Formats: sequence, C-alpha cells, structure tokens
Amino acid sequence: QRSEAEFVTFSVPSYACQRRTTLNNRNAVLTDALSLLADNAELTGDEGRGVAFRRAAAVLKALPKPVTDATQLRGLPCLGEHSLRVINDILEDGASNEVESTKRSERYKALKVLTGVFGVGVKTADRWIRAGIRDLHGLQDSGPALNRAQQAGLQHYDDLNQPVTKAEADAIAEIVERAVASVSPGAQTTLIGGFRRGKPTGHDVDFLITHPEEGREEGLVPKVVSWLESEGILFYQKTTRNSYLEGKESGPGRPSSSMDRFERCFSIFKLPKEEKRGAGQTHGAACGPEAGHKPWRAVRVDLVVSPVSQFAFALLGWTGSKLFERELRRWAGHEKAMSLSSHALYDNKQRRYLRATSEEEIFAHLGLEFIPPSERNA
Ligand code: GTP
Ligand code: MN
Ligand code: MN
Repeated sequence: QRSEAEFVTFSVPSYACQRRTTLNNRNAVLTDALSLLADNAELTGDEGRGVAFRRAAAVLKALPKPVTDATQLRGLPCLGEHSLRVINDILEDGASNEVESTKRSERYKALKVLTGVFGVGVKTADRWIRAGIRDLHGLQDSGPALNRAQQAGLQHYDDLNQPVTKAEADAIAEIVERAVASVSPGAQTTLIGGFRRGKPTGHDVDFLITHPEEGREEGLVPKVVSWLESEGILFYQKTTRNSYLEGKESGPGRPSSSMDRFERCFSIFKLPKEEKRGAGQTHGAACGPEAGHKPWRAVRVDLVVSPVSQFAFALLGWTGSKLFERELRRWAGHEKAMSLSSHALYDNKQRRYLRATSEEEIFAHLGLEFIPPSERNA
C-alpha cells in the first residue's frame, strides 16, 4: 500500500546552475548507480554518454524527497531513455543488471585501479590493459616506463586513495598559509574545490592564492614551492606557469575548452600525523611500500594563483562541482551568448568583457539567481 505522499511529482529547472543542490542527497542509491555508469563511460572514452549519466544523476540529487515510483519522474529534464531504464530497474528489483555486471567486469575493475594511480589517465590505463597489465602488482613487475608523477602516484597509492578529511584539509591550509605569508606578505589564500562546498572529505585539497596588488602574484608558485621544499613538506610537485596571454587564436579569456591558464602547482604533501587526534586509530591494511606505521601521510594538494582582477572568475571556476561548472558554461553559451571561463566572462553580442569582483556579480551578469557554494553540489 502506497501513501499519497509517495506520488508527489517533482519539478526542477534544466540546468544544474539553476538548482540548489546540497550534500543532503535523498536518492544516493540511484545516483551512485548512474555515477558508476558515468565513470564507466568516461573510462571507456565515451565522454558524451558520461555527461548524460552525470546530468541525470544531478537531477535526482536536486529532488527534495526519495523517488519511490517512476511516475514521479514525468517531465523531469535530462532523464534519457537509458538512465530511466536503470532507475526503473532499481526501483522495481532493487538493482540494475547493467550496473552490477559493469561493477564485476574485469575491464572496469582494471581501469578503476590503474586510473587510481595519480598521473594515470584513461588513455594510459587503456594502453597498459592492452599490454596485459591489470593491477598494481602487474604494473610494478612488468615495469612500463613511468613518468615522475606516476612513480609518486604508485609509491603513495594507498594514502592518495584514502579520502582527505576536513581536519587534514585545515592542517594543510595552515601550512600553505604559512608558506604564502612568508614568501609574499599580504597575499591571500582561499580554500576552494569540494571543501569550499562543505564536503566532509575530498580526494585532494585545493587552494586559490591572489595578491591585492595586481602583478604582485606573479611567480608566487615557485616561491611557495621552494619554501615547502626547504621545510621537507613536498613529495612531488609540478608547476605550470601562467600562459593566459599566450593563446592568440582564442584570445584571452576565451579558451575553447575548460582548460585555464593560471600559474598552478599539482603536488603531493607530506602531512605529519596529528597523533593527538585519536591514539590507536588503525590505518588501512596496506600492502604497498608504505605498509606499517608511519608518522605522516601523503595528500594531494592543488595550488592555483590568480591576478586579483580575475579572482572572482577563478573562485567560481575552481569551486565546482565539475558538473556545476560545465552547466554554468553551457548556460552562458546556449542561453546568453556569453563565454565563461575561470579568467573572464565575454559577451558575444556586446563584444566586450563583463567585469566582476564577486561571484554574485557573475551570477547576475548571467541572469542566474546566486547559488552559494554549499548548494553547488550537483
Ligand atoms: P574532490 O577533490 O574529489 O573532493 O572534488 P573537487 O570538487 O574538489 O574536485 P577537483 O579537486 O578535481 O576540482 C575542483 C574544481 O576545480 C572543479 O570545479 C574543477 O572543475 C576545477 N578544476 C580542476 N582541474 C581544473 C583545470 O585543470 N582547469 C580548470 N579550469 N578547472 C579545473
Ligand atoms: Mn578537490
Ligand atoms: Mn583538485
């Protein structure tokens, strides 16, 4: 017997950037299934299908109640035939055959493990699988040439695949702030990415650094990196310098992809363990080179530096979620004839850049209601 309440129908706007999506997801069983299929599509090079599953999952994340019956989904955007079939199977049978068989497939499992190594993308993993490598032991034994990032990734595999907690993110923030303050007094550091959206854990910790005097932020990353290295805090780092004014074809602020050109650093920190926080806490039963007790753990950290004139765009562009960002750019392009990047907003009709010093102003330029970071968890 179903109560009437179960038959409320839902209504949500089409673009994720028009919706308020908190971390309180009432449809996790369904969205986990769709996310797994999205992962699988991306891992097998089908990006279009991956996005379709992610959009469908995002619609379900925005619903105020659990879905109990497929009729409740009538008229909702972004739910294609394939996604609806998966949702129906789960509502009716408690599971989807496609999801379960994907989870069990050798190819999916191998792609998951290999792309779980920092520095390994889908193409590399695919090449290795075709060479007969299915897991980390295979990778260590058969020894294809690994670059510096992949070597560090393999060495710290267990640590980097263990979620970073908010407490650890705060500890990293203190270190980064100390580094920044000592090489550039007056510079400002902001926590971005998932932790800015209120997530309790993350796969890394992301920071945006700027200086209130335009130009003073230039070259900040190498200085911060030297400071961190002298303190013995870095296991790995790769710094990329700012290339914003280099791409002449697309013009500043209008790169064709979502790639941006900020000075940045992808790194692995050596974070001393806070023994006070739980004496006797057990660590996963590691079998890698890091097995056993050690007084530190490896954590992925991203540093991005923006000139203060572009700060609001960088902040919006690096807060995520990835789907929310993608949808913002799609909204800008399709609905407003504007081009949004992490550097700027360009109005194609007026043929000019629209300035902004806050995220609120950017949403206003785009004709969108302001959505705070904690509600961008699409
Ligand atoms: P977890 O780290 O898994 O907790 O989630 P997250 O949302 O923090 O993801 P991630 O650290 O991968 O990225 C944070 C934000 O930065 C996301 O919105 C991404 O879109 C954005 N981002 C990551 N890498 C790049 C990049 O190379 N260029 C640009 N423009 N944005 C990026
Ligand atoms: Mn992150
Ligand atoms: Mn990141």
